Amino acid sequence: MADPADNDALLEAADAFARERLSEKRYGHTVRVADTAEELAREHGLDPARTRLAALLHDAARETEPEEYLRLARAWELHLGEPERQSPKLLHGPVAAELGRRELGVEDEEVLEAVRVHTVGAAGMGPLALALYVADKIEPARDYPSVGRIRDLASRDLREAAAESLRRAISYNEGRGRDIHPASRGMLEWLEEPERAAHRGV
Ligand SMILES: [Fe+2]
Ligand SMILES: [Fe+2]
Repeated sequence: MADPADNDALLEAADAFARERLSEKRYGHTVRVADTAEELAREHGLDPARTRLAALLHDAARETEPEEYLRLARAWELHLGEPERQSPKLLHGPVAAELGRRELGVEDEEVLEAVRVHTVGAAGMGPLALALYVADKIEPARDYPSVGRIRDLASRDLREAAAESLRRAISYNEGRGRDIHPASRGMLEWLEEPERAAHRGV
């Protein structure tokens, strides 16, 4: 996305794409995530336009029927694990990334990765994906007990904000006897790695 005019055209196309595929409520969430992600990008020295593009696309496939997620995942050879079979809506990120590539011509792999992994997370995700992951959790309409703390962390350290969000979500879900996606556990382990290395004196 070198040419600013191309950036604007793609951002407009992604915005229209989300708006036509989503309810007003979910489109509202999308725009709030886009504004939040863009702000985080500026605070952390990332590309605001590419981060906004990922955010505009992230939930574009969220209002798809379960059978359709599974059909598209098979047709496009997307990763289909047991959690995705049990809960096909987990595929809305990977499906949205493919739609971005196929229908909007997005070729930026970091943007596509951010969209793909925004739901369950992934160990080793890039900074742009981390910004979207966190923005999705702290957009202004999010209201849960620890959101203020995660917002504070987000302006200082995206990794720490994501780790805190994951710790809270994992303990909340474990407390209710719900399965935790292995990618979410893997992401938290990855985020906590430097801390553990520091404790070992490495
Ligand atoms: Fe989502
Ligand atoms: Fe979202």
